[in-house]
Amino acid sequence: KIVAVAMGGYSTEAQISLKSGEVVYQHLPTNKYEVYRAHLLKNNWFIVDSKGNKHNIDRSDFSFNIDGEKIKFDVVFNTIHGTPGEDGLLQAYLNMLGIAQTTCNYYQAALTFNKRDCISVLKPHGIPTANNYFINKGDKINVDEIIQKVGLPCFVKANRAGSSFGISKVKKKSDIIEAIEFSFQEDDEVLVESFLDGVEVSVGVINYKNEVLALPVTQIISENEFFDYDAKYLGKSQEITPALISEQQTQEVQNLAKKVFKVLKLKGFTRSEFIFHNNKAHFLEVNTCPGLTEASLLPQQAKAAGISLTNLFDEAIIEALK
Ligand code: DAL
Ligand code: MG
Repeated sequence: KIVAVAMGGYSTEAQISLKSGEVVYQHLPTNKYEVYRAHLLKNNWFIVDSKGNKHNIDRSDFSFNIDGEKIKFDVVFNTIHGTPGEDGLLQAYLNMLGIAQTTCNYYQAALTFNKRDCISVLKPHGIPTANNYFINKGDKINVDEIIQKVGLPCFVKANRAGSSFGISKVKKKSDIIEAIEFSFQEDDEVLVESFLDGVEVSVGVINYKNEVLALPVTQIISENEFFDYDAKYLGKSQEITPALISEQQTQEVQNLAKKVFKVLKLKGFTRSEFIFHNNKAHFLEVNTCPGLTEASLLPQQAKAAGISLTNLFDEAIIEALK
């Protein structure tokens, strides 16, 4: 089978995606697959072959030419965080071309990448979440109304973004407007959420050998105010797998993460974040194309479960090709 590892993308997460993609490229079994790196950058889509040579991608069928031969892909291994890989655009495009891909389908991707909409779908299923307040760019901002709804401190988030870009924690009423403007640099929708005081954990859920499997839980202890970009990628946090929580809490959060996976009909491998607040796990968000860099959590969780990255990635391709 011929595999394209799609990486890059158009968002602020592009550099992280290039790292995730390289990890996948290095770990896919080459005795089984013919693997190419596909860099999908804004206005520039190209293949990098094993010698490092670049070839333009024909967007009409996602093929490329090498030595006069046209190569078409059987499957795309999607490692693009943010748009267009995590919000449904790439999924829809490949779906129309009839090319398999490793992440969930276009609707699930669009839904899960929209923090507000994802939460509103999960809430009626009894999944605890923070109170929130939604703002569109151009809306008149009523600070008192926001604080009445979510309290202080609160989190101001770009509604559709990842890797903590466009997020700030706000402690004082006078800082809210600036935080909202900061989030609007990332997206034209902003979600303000109540601060949930408690232990933060992250849970990988994967479809592995026809079973929905929750991986060991990671506890996050950030040196910063929250698990921001520096805490995620520049070592400013402690990430403990398995988490130092009780067996009962571990099961609670793993079951909740599996429920999220099933309710949303996800695919491949995913990672959701929760906070134990008032003794109950509260859902923050789910990532359907989670980071796979050296600093990312899912590879740590797979390792703790005794699953090699090669097996993890191979299973995602097997599932995609079903
Ligand atoms: N959005 C980043 C890549 C993650 O979820 O790991
Ligand atoms: Mg995220």
